[in-house]
Amino acid sequence: MADAAATPVKKDPQAIIAEAVNAVSHIATLPEITLKIIQLVENPKSTAQDLNKLISNDPALVARILKVVNSAFYGLPGQIGSINRAIVLLGLNAVKNIVIAASLAKLFRGGRVSPQFSAKDLWTHSVGVGVMSKLIVGRLNNQLPDEAFLAGLIHDIGILVELQGLRDGLVETAERASKETRRYIDIETEVIGVDHQALGAGLTSRWKFPRSFTYVTGHHHQPLSLAPECRWLTSVVYVADHVCVQSGIGYGLTCKGEGIDPKVLEDLKLLPETLAELTRELPEALKETEAMLA
Ligand SMILES: [Fe+2]
Ligand SMILES: [Fe+2]
Repeated sequence: MADAAATPVKKDPQAIIAEAVNAVSHIATLPEITLKIIQLVENPKSTAQDLNKLISNDPALVARILKVVNSAFYGLPGQIGSINRAIVLLGLNAVKNIVIAASLAKLFRGGRVSPQFSAKDLWTHSVGVGVMSKLIVGRLNNQLPDEAFLAGLIHDIGILVELQGLRDGLVETAERASKETRRYIDIETEVIGVDHQALGAGLTSRWKFPRSFTYVTGHHHQPLSLAPECRWLTSVVYVADHVCVQSGIGYGLTCKGEGIDPKVLEDLKLLPETLAELTRELPEALKETEAMLA
């Protein structure tokens, strides 16, 4: 008979996700005001006046939003001096996204965890992917550039969940990924039991983010695994992720050595020469956005 005691009990992936997401929700939740703003904007009955009232209760947030609204990122003519004006010009949804971006920055603070990993490098990578996603979307249809920015910003948030609740697994994954040629998510699944996509999807659904964001956090390493009608934003982030890793922007182990699947580019109708052009625009755009979020 096999010696059952010698075999470590493999935990159910769903249990790992639930436990880790619970841990991160206690330690590093989004500020209450951010969650209230998300709820308010998701409610179709809400008006610009409701949002204005809620934000105006928090002077630090007002200052932060006006700084972002007046940055080169939005390129609006003239100085915007009030939240009301910002909402009128950008819409409720864009203002909500600014609030989320500003409060996310705080979650990525912390020193170096190991020679291969620091939260700061992950933040740099995430901002890079946000900016590149925005550039791609701007070129493809100019519909939702700041939705794309936010999607890029949160795509690897599952790694943040690991940082809070599964730190040893994260350190070991990063160390092994720096030496091995296997896919990062395969190493991660072996070490932790789930990958950062599953953890990220767990967190964004806990935060009640729109479903398109849960597709991004949950599938950005294999966008083609999603049904064609749900994969667009995830495919954009997938491409942006690879560009940032290839360009050495921040934490770069998660798709190290992997080329972009030409099928994804085809699906997006994004020509390689257009992508090359956008990649050249990235450093300057990144500088502007880093200043905005600082
Ligand atoms: Fe990732
Ligand atoms: Fe990434």
